[in-house]
Amino acid sequence: MKEFKRTLITTALPYANGPVHIGHLAGVYVPADIYARYLRLRGQDVVMIGGSDEHGVPITIKAKAEGVTPQDIVDRYHSIIKKSFEELGISFDIYSRTTSDIHAKTASEFFRHLYDNGQFVEKTSMQLYDEKAGQFLADRYVIGECPVCHQPGAYGDQCEKCGSSLNAVDLINPKSAITGNTPVLKETHHWYLPLDRWQPELEKWILEGHKEWKSNVYGQCKSWLDMGLQPRAVSRDLDWGVPVPVEGAEGKVLYVWFDAPIGYISNTKELLPDSWEKYWKDPESRVVNFIGKDNIVFHCIVFPSMLMAYGDGYQLPDNVPANEFLNLEGDKISTSRNWAIWLHEYLRDFEGKQDVLRYVLTANAPETKDNDFTWRDFQARNNSELVAILGNFVNRALVLTHKYFNGQLPTVGTLEAVDEQLIAEVNSLKDQMTQALDTFHFREALRLAMDMARAGNKYLQETEPWKVAKTDINRTATILNTAVQLCANLAIAFEPFLPFMSAKLLKMLRGDKISWDMLGCFDLVPAGAVIGQPELLFEKIEDDVIQAQLDRLARIKEENLVKAWKPEPQAPEVDFDTFLKLDIRVGRVIECKRVPKADKLLQFLIDDGMEQRTIVSGIAKYYEPEQLIGKQVTFIANFAPRKLKGVTSQGMILSAENPDGSLTVISPEGDIAPGARVK
Ligand code: MF3
Ligand code: ZN
Repeated sequence: MKEFKRTLITTALPYANGPVHIGHLAGVYVPADIYARYLRLRGQDVVMIGGSDEHGVPITIKAKAEGVTPQDIVDRYHSIIKKSFEELGISFDIYSRTTSDIHAKTASEFFRHLYDNGQFVEKTSMQLYDEKAGQFLADRYVIGECPVCHQPGAYGDQCEKCGSSLNAVDLINPKSAITGNTPVLKETHHWYLPLDRWQPELEKWILEGHKEWKSNVYGQCKSWLDMGLQPRAVSRDLDWGVPVPVEGAEGKVLYVWFDAPIGYISNTKELLPDSWEKYWKDPESRVVNFIGKDNIVFHCIVFPSMLMAYGDGYQLPDNVPANEFLNLEGDKISTSRNWAIWLHEYLRDFEGKQDVLRYVLTANAPETKDNDFTWRDFQARNNSELVAILGNFVNRALVLTHKYFNGQLPTVGTLEAVDEQLIAEVNSLKDQMTQALDTFHFREALRLAMDMARAGNKYLQETEPWKVAKTDINRTATILNTAVQLCANLAIAFEPFLPFMSAKLLKMLRGDKISWDMLGCFDLVPAGAVIGQPELLFEKIEDDVIQAQLDRLARIKEENLVKAWKPEPQAPEVDFDTFLKLDIRVGRVIECKRVPKADKLLQFLIDDGMEQRTIVSGIAKYYEPEQLIGKQVTFIANFAPRKLKGVTSQGMILSAENPDGSLTVISPEGDIAPGARVK
């Protein structure tokens, strides 16, 4: 692999239209942070860039929905997002925002430079326009059927189902997201970046030059290139964004996907006003973009074309490790349906357990295919891996050192085969981890780190220092010295993944500076060092904690069902005579009780004005029998008698079906004589 002097790590800028959730974390921020921390441990010059994407339609739609300004929305979510990233230990060197002055200047200058150099084509075209709202409908302002996969509800810029990048005018049966109206076509003009001009360079750069990229990334690029690139509009008729810096462009702003990636540059400038350029333009530097799969085309085709069009030494990314999507309990994560685990809420509900989330999201990362997060898996990984393997080993090693040597690390004596084997295994795991981390296989790297802890448990099991102590304290010293050295190794191996655990462990070991080079060494803690009191690194997560989270998700599912509820379509027409065939009456409930061995059925005795009749009804889940005694109900009197669980039912009580599927008895108002007919 080519060695680089420095690495600029960028992370997709999340839209500040909501907090970040576990899907964002697993796809982009946790892997980027692992990589950044790993390179720093290797002593490399690394800068990790983040920030909020504060322009674009997702922001203005949210503002409209809440009746506040777009600025209110981005201020609110930028601060929630920034704070929660910090608390999770995502080690950004800067987390800024695209509404900053420096960004407006940088993006504007970028556009102007391309404009002045003839890098755009200007075109007049027909675009969708909402006459009621009085505005053009760009991107997510239009919803309709995807022309590629025919999924309804695709956005004007992208279908979330099949991932196709779309043009709003190609949607089938488009509707305005603002008013629900069918838009009309209206003429407007925009600036287009002719991606087709860059097709040959892009092919050479990606298809020939970057065969090592992840197959999902390479494959998507190839299919775009095979289809043939088209010019792409980079301006929009909107009032929120960076104004197009050209005369006669009133009411037009830069397309959010033009301005946002420039945010990587603006944020580097903001962080390093004097030296930012070397991270972008020195051939001995490299740029790595961490993104989710829906961002691939923008990072591999559009932004690189912008950089090539700009020239001036800007380098293209060296790698774009995009992840697939994470689902939650079997369903697609969705901000609008509130189907997510929000980071700021996790941090509130699981105080001090940042590493548990980082661990589970990495162990389950959607690196090659979509994956599922479940709370049961979260609990199992905590209890049977973090607690039972890693936490357990460290705890045993430190407790035994305290027990036999008062916490003072004893001197190592002659190593036996079992000790040498452990050291060899740690070194082999280190090599495999290095290989995995260098190639963005973070799940694999984490599994290898856990194998290191497993090796520690096995070592203590085999050497049994608690038994040896009775006869040979010198041998016990060697075993525990080796075990404590392994603890120090674990603090290094896990640092990219579990930085909070690593810091706590190092503190107990009185360590401070660590590096990747130290990994595999067994003289990291000097003999005689006084080791801190062993504190538990992880604690068991109990069932009730998990159940509370599952209950919350069940409530959300319920709410979503109710929100999505629509009345059934009307049944086919009937005439009056057909209606009259049904004899519907009012009656009064005299008795009501549960039908034995039938959890759905209630048995009624009804005063029907003539005599009394028994009716069985399937509403036992929604009522206590006592609630219904004395109540007036409506029922079909001439319904053919039916036997239900041994009881003959002479009629049918009428109920309305609610959005959640429950039933409510239809009870007339006022005192109506039993037997009165309903017409
Ligand atoms: N906000 C976009 C999204 O969430 C990502 C922007 S990445 C950048 O999908 F490169 F444009 F910054
Ligand atoms: Zn589609």
